[in-house]
Formats: sequence, C-alpha cells, structure tokens
Amino acid sequence: MLGIIKHLIKSNNSIASCVRRCRTWLYANVRCGVRNYGDNLQFNRGVVVCFRDLKIGHDVFIGYDCYFGVQNIQIGNYVQLAPKVAITGGDHLIEIIGTPIIKTGLDSSREIQTTQKGVIIQDDVWVGFGAIIMDGITIGEGSVIGAGSVVTKDVPPYTIYAGCPAKKIRDRFLNQNDRIEHSKKINGTWHRSVDN
Ligand SMILES: CC(C)(COP(=O)(O)OP(=O)(O)OC[C@H]1O[C@@H](n2cnc3c(N)ncnc32)[C@H](O)[C@@H]1OP(=O)(O)O)[C@@H](O)C(=O)NCCC(=O)NCCS
Repeated sequence: MLGIIKHLIKSNNSIASCVRRCRTWLYANVRCGVRNYGDNLQFNRGVVVCFRDLKIGHDVFIGYDCYFGVQNIQIGNYVQLAPKVAITGGDHLIEIIGTPIIKTGLDSSREIQTTQKGVIIQDDVWVGFGAIIMDGITIGEGSVIGAGSVVTKDVPPYTIYAGCPAKKIRDRFLNQNDRIEHSKKINGTWHRSVDN
C-alpha cells in the first residue's frame, strides 16, 4: 500500500513538488529555524544548523546530514551540497594559558566567546560528498569541490579543487570566454568583475 502511494506521488509532478516543498519547510523552517532562503530549495533530513543566520539563494540542494557549524554562512543560487558536507572551524581558542579549550566557544554558556568569520559559497557551486569547508573560506562561482576534500583556502571561480588539503585539479572550463558566457547565462556575478 505504502509502495503504491509512493509510486503515485512520484509519477505526479505537482504532488511530488508539493511533497518536496512540505519536506523542505519541515526540515528547514521547523527543525533548523532557517528562514532566509529562495525558491526551489531542497533541504534534506539530518541537516544540523547551529546558527540561524544561514542565508540560502534559489535552486539549492542541501544533502542529507549536512552540518552548518559557522556563523554568517551565505549560499548563492544553483548550489548543490552533497550529503554529509560540513562547514566548521573558528569555534574554539586553543592558546589561552589557564583556560581549557572546552571553556571557549560560541555557545553562550562558554566563559570566552570566539568570533567566526563566516563562509561564502557563490552561485553554481557543487560540493562533493563529505567535504569539509573551514571557517573564513569563500568558494568562488562555478567551482567544484571533490568528495571528501578539506577546504582550507579560498577557491577561485570556475576551478575544481580536491584532496586534503584541497588543491586545484583543473579549471572547469578550458577558456575564459566560456567562463564569462556561462556566468552571464546563469545570471552570476563573477563575469562583471572580468567583463569590460
Ligand atoms: C572532483 C571531481 C568532480 C573530479 O572529477 P574529474 O575531473 O573527473 O577528476 P578525475 O577523476 O579525472 O581525477 C583527476 C585527479 O584528481 C584526483 N581526484 C579526483 N577526485 C578527488 C577527490 N575527491 N579527492 C582527492 N583527489 C581527487 C584524482 O585522483 C586525479 O589525480 P591524478 O591526476 O593525480 O591521478 C570528482 O572526483 C568528485 O569528487 N565528484 C564528487 C562526487 C560526489 O560527491 N557526488 C555526490 C552526489 S551530489
């Protein structure tokens, strides 16, 4: 019976999209307190959001069990985060003599508060399964992050980074004209900085 209901839902686009919207509302708004997001968000089960200032653009996919542990995270449009992507770091101070690390942190119960810089993920970025993005990082428009990578430095637009620490594998498009054309077509912002 349940199988028949699932099949009916999947074969009917409007019901399927309604179910997706309800699921996103439940997981994003109700469970994680995320309010600031655009149209066509897919927000899956098991996502943890530590700070409610998370901003998400339109046409974004947030996979199962993603972890947002940083203040000031901004996610652009057409971004896809595979399952188990984590954004973390900048959360404890380790060099204060006489203060155990557990007493530092962003939780209001801690004696010493730290300040995180935030993370920016620009438009049309794909982050692979289980990647970890450290606090303070900007991932440039159109970039790809390989599965299992640890991103410790900014990623320039339209590059593919992978590994631990993540390093450039190659460019996503072979030439600059293709990058500019793509950026314009997705209504990105990067082309404005290079186009004259
Ligand atoms: C990053 C990625 C897109 C690169 O794909 P690609 O361009 O076809 O890369 P290749 O397989 O040709 O590998 C190129 C080099 O990068 C390395 N590499 C590729 N992916 C890597 C990764 N995730 N971590 C570390 N190194 C990686 C390869 O070992 C290879 O190294 P070599 O030149 O020294 O042999 C792909 O490997 C990846 O990680 N995709 C994410 C998949 C995923 O998470 N899907 C979830 C569904 S949303």
